[in-house]
Amino acid sequence: MKVGFGCDHTAIDLKKELMEYMTEKGYECVDYGAYDAKVRVDYPDQGQKVAEAIIAGEVEKGVLICGTGIGISLAANKVPGIRAAVCSEPYSAEMTVRHNNAQIIAFGARVVGNELAKKILDAFFGAIFEGGRHAERVQKICNIEENI
Ligand code: RB5
Repeated sequence: MKVGFGCDHTAIDLKKELMEYMTEKGYECVDYGAYDAKVRVDYPDQGQKVAEAIIAGEVEKGVLICGTGIGISLAANKVPGIRAAVCSEPYSAEMTVRHNNAQIIAFGARVVGNELAKKILDAFFGAIFEGGRHAERVQKICNIEENI
């Protein structure tokens, strides 16, 4: 599976470590920036890039990291069709795939440690969407975007 990674300046080292971790597990990781911890960037730019890459079919899923995970996920969720979830622990990361069919996991480099972040990724990428009544609910989210 191809996975897009994006972060702001607060999360360069964590993103690098997580990309190595996921590459070792067999995922193809694509880096959408940022690249330099010394250069401040605006988290909406990376959130938008990864979200648009998913909609364009360049990557299947995404990992977004800023200081809290909140701003970058808010930006990603503005791209129609994207469901990005901020999760600071593995249970929510698993459930947002099983019930919400989220394509993007987000968290904060100032919130979670490196090892917890790996557990969050394990839970997110190990989960499968359950469909059924959850598909109907996800469809209702899509309907909001389409003004249905
Ligand atoms: C950057 O200082 C910080 O605002 C950003 O990383 C993020 O936490 C925003 O939601």
